[in-house]
Amino acid sequence: MSIPDELIEEVRQRADIVEIISEHTRLKRSGRTFRGPCPLHGGEGPNFSVDPGKGFYKCFVCGEGGSVFTFLQKHLGMSFPEAVRDVAARVGIEIPDPRERRDDAPDPNAPFHEVNAFAADWFRRQLREDAGRGAREYLQRRGIGEAAVERFGLGWAPEAWNALGDAARKHGITNEMLLALGLAKEPQKGGREPYDTFRGRLIFPIEDVGGRVVAFGGRVIGAVEEHVPKYLNSPESPVYHKGRMLYGLGWSRGAIRRAESALVVEGYMDYVSLAAHGVENVVAPLGTALTAEQADLIARYAPQAILLYDSDTAGLKATFRSGDELLRAGVEVLVATLPEGEDPDSLVRARGAAALQHYLKDAVDVLERKIQILERRDYFGSLKGTRQAIDALLPTVRAASDEVVRGLYVARIAERTGIPRETLEHEVAEAAGRDTRPTGAADRRQRSTGRRAEDFAQRAPKAETRPERILLLLLLRDESLLERAAMDLSPEHFTVPEFRTIFEELLHLQRDPEGRWLEAFPRELIPLVEDLRGDPEAESLNPAEEFYLESLRSILLRAYDARLEELKRESAIAPPEQAIQLLREQLEIQRKIAEQNLTGRRKSGSLRPSSS
Ligand code: UTP
Ligand code: MN
Repeated sequence: MSIPDELIEEVRQRADIVEIISEHTRLKRSGRTFRGPCPLHGGEGPNFSVDPGKGFYKCFVCGEGGSVFTFLQKHLGMSFPEAVRDVAARVGIEIPDPRERRDDAPDPNAPFHEVNAFAADWFRRQLREDAGRGAREYLQRRGIGEAAVERFGLGWAPEAWNALGDAARKHGITNEMLLALGLAKEPQKGGREPYDTFRGRLIFPIEDVGGRVVAFGGRVIGAVEEHVPKYLNSPESPVYHKGRMLYGLGWSRGAIRRAESALVVEGYMDYVSLAAHGVENVVAPLGTALTAEQADLIARYAPQAILLYDSDTAGLKATFRSGDELLRAGVEVLVATLPEGEDPDSLVRARGAAALQHYLKDAVDVLERKIQILERRDYFGSLKGTRQAIDALLPTVRAASDEVVRGLYVARIAERTGIPRETLEHEVAEAAGRDTRPTGAADRRQRSTGRRAEDFAQRAPKAETRPERILLLLLLRDESLLERAAMDLSPEHFTVPEFRTIFEELLHLQRDPEGRWLEAFPRELIPLVEDLRGDPEAESLNPAEEFYLESLRSILLRAYDARLEELKRESAIAPPEQAIQLLREQLEIQRKIAEQNLTGRRKSGSLRPSSS
C-alpha cells in the first residue's frame, strides 16, 4: 500500500515545484527564489515564496510551508499518496501499486500518447536501418553525432506512402488515431487508405516537459525542391498545443536554471545543433514567434533570455516580437547579433561553441538593439524620423512590465533623442492601444509565401479604401481621365500598396501610349487588374465626372487627415522653434480641408448656387 521512501524522494527531486505551484498562483523570480501571492490563504502581496533549490514553499503571512506534496495536500485536498502519484505522473515515474490502480479515472489522452510513443519508436528504428543511411549521413554532415541522435530520439520517415501506416495498423492502431494526431492524411481522390504525413524526412520528436512525445517535426534531407516545404510539423491535436510549449524545455530546464538565462533559438534544428555542441540552456518555439504563454514559461525558469535569431529582416521582426512578449512576462531580454548570413547552427558548426559564447557575451538589451538599428537606418537625423523611431521604440517600453526597466528605457530614449523625459513618459502612458498586437503565425506565413495580390482584398478595410478603388475603376474604364488624375494625385495618395502600383503603372502607360496594356503590370498584379477591369460596378459610375470628383475629394481629405495626425505627433516631441513651423503647416492643411469640404457640400446640392 505505501509507496517506498526512495521512490517518494526521487519524485520529490525530479518534481518542478515552481512549475506545479505556478499552476495555482503567479510566481515571479526574485533572486534564488520565486515570489507571488499566496494561493493558500488567498493573499495578494508577494508574501509567498518558493525555493526550487530546496524544494520548499513558505508563506510569510499565513505561515504555511512545506514540500510540493504538502502543497497539493493543503491546496487541493489530496491525500499524501495521491499527491505523490500526481507528481510522479508528471515527471514520468511509475509507481506500482495494484491496489490503488486508478482505472476508474483513466487519462483520456492516454491512447494518443501511446500512438505517439509507438510512432516515435518506429521512426527511431528506421533511422538505424539500411533505409536510414542517407539520413544518418546527413546528420553526420550537420555535425549531429550519435549521442545527440540518441538523446533527442531523432528518427527517419522512409520515402513511402504507407510505411508508418502499415506498421501502425499491424499494431492495432486505427486510421482515426493516425489522422487525429496528424501522422496520416485523408486519402486523396481515388485512394482508399489514408497516407503517411511524414515521408522522406528526418524526424524530430517533440516532447512535453514530462518527456512524453506529443508531436513531430520533419525536415527533408539535402537539397530542398520547389513546392516541397523544408519543414513539416504535426498539426495541433488533443495532446499538442504548439503555442503553449517550447521545444527542449524538458531537457534544458535544469541548465537554464543554473545559467539563470535561456537562449532562445528559432527551431529544433538550431536547438539540436547547439546541444550537440554542448550548449545546453536553450529552448525553441515551434514554428511561430514566441507566444505570451511561452514567454511565461521561460519566466518560470530564468530571469533573463538571450534571443538568438537570424539577423535578416524576418529574423529581426521575430526577435522584437518575442522580445516584447518576454518583457511583458518580466524577463530581461538581450539580443545576440550573429554575423551576416549565419544562424546559431551554422556558427557552432563552423567555429564551435566558443565562437558562439563570444557573440553571447556581446549581446545587448533589446531596446538598445532597436536603437542601433534605427541609428543605422538614419532615423534620428530629422524630426519626422525621430517621431517614427519613437513610435517603433514605445511598444517595447510599454511591454516592459517591470517599472524599473521602463524607467531606464525612457531615460535611454531621452538621452538618445534629446526629448525631455516627461514628454516621453506622457507618450508611454497615452494610447497604449496604438501598439499592434503581435501576430506571429501570420508573419511566419507571410515569410514563407510572400504577399499575394489575391490576399489583399481580405486585408484592406473596404470602406476606407473604396474611393481609391472607384478612382481606379474609372481610370481603367476611361483612359482620358488619366491626364487629369496625373495632375490631381500622386501615387502616394493611394494607401493600398497594390492600388498605388497600379496607379503608377497607369501613369507610365499614359506617357507611353504604344505600351502593351496588361503586360505593363507586374505579373502578380495582373489578376487584380483584370478583376478591376471586369468589375460590373464600373458601368454604374455615371456621370463619371461626379464620381471622379467625389473619390478625388475623399482621397485628398484622407491624405490631409493623415498628414495632420503626423504633424500633431511630431509637434508633441518638437523643440519650440520647430513646433511653430509645424503649426503653420497644420493651419495650412486645415484651410485646405475646409476648402474641400466646401466644394463637397456645394456639389452635393445643399450649397449649389442656383445660377449654375
Ligand atoms: P533554417 O531555415 O536555417 O533551417 O531554419 P535549417 O535546417 O538550418 O536549414 P539550412 O541548412 O540553414 O538551409 C532555422 C531554424 O528554424 C526552424 C529550424 O528548425 C531551425 O532551427 N524552423 C524553420 C522551423 O522550426 N520551422 C520551419 O518551418 C522553418
Ligand atoms: Mn540553418
